[in-house]
Amino acid sequence: MSNDNTPVAAFSHEKVETNNFLMIVLILLVIAVGGLVEIVPLFFQKSTTEPVLGVKPYTALQVAGRDIYLREGCYNCHSQMIRPFRAETLRYGHYSVAGEFVYDHPFQWGSKRTGPDLHRVGGKYSDEWQRIHLNNPRDVVPESNMPAYPWLEKNRSTRPAWRRG
Ligand code: HEC
Repeated sequence: MSNDNTPVAAFSHEKVETNNFLMIVLILLVIAVGGLVEIVPLFFQKSTTEPVLGVKPYTALQVAGRDIYLREGCYNCHSQMIRPFRAETLRYGHYSVAGEFVYDHPFQWGSKRTGPDLHRVGGKYSDEWQRIHLNNPRDVVPESNMPAYPWLEKNRSTRPAWRRG
């Protein structure tokens, strides 16, 4: 607080703290600079733009499967991003790194975990298990609340009906 006897510096905090507009502009400026400093380098860092060893572009079959995954909205319950916490790495394996997603457009990160993360689920179960599980999850995991996708057994098209030629 100042009173008439306190000398006011040319640019005192009081000016900022008593002027809503100036305060908002300065807050936005700080956030903008902070954001740019955090985000812009990611576009140039090798570790975020180059694939990690062993990561290759998807094969046609993998892309077709991915299209089904998107079409059916599996990402509404499953994330594809293991966070760097011990509880997660113990359960799912090594945490996800940016270089693993360079061929993922759009990536399927997310934080919605009604079901478990699926980033490293490949190879965990047999093809037969996956077939039964997708047809009716309760047949292999009795307490599961994942919806059944029985039509996937017959419907082989990866395109939604309105896009089929
Ligand atoms: C309504 C939420 C929900 C949706 C949508 C959903 N799932 Fe699930 N999913 C779950 C839950 C809950 C589990 C854990 C219980 C189980 O294994 O069935 C699970 C488990 C799984 C597992 C086994 C994971 C593991 O580590 O044991 C796979 C694989 C899987 N889902 C694939 C899919 C695919 C593919 C789709 C889309 C076609 C899909 N899910 C859609 C909720 C969902």
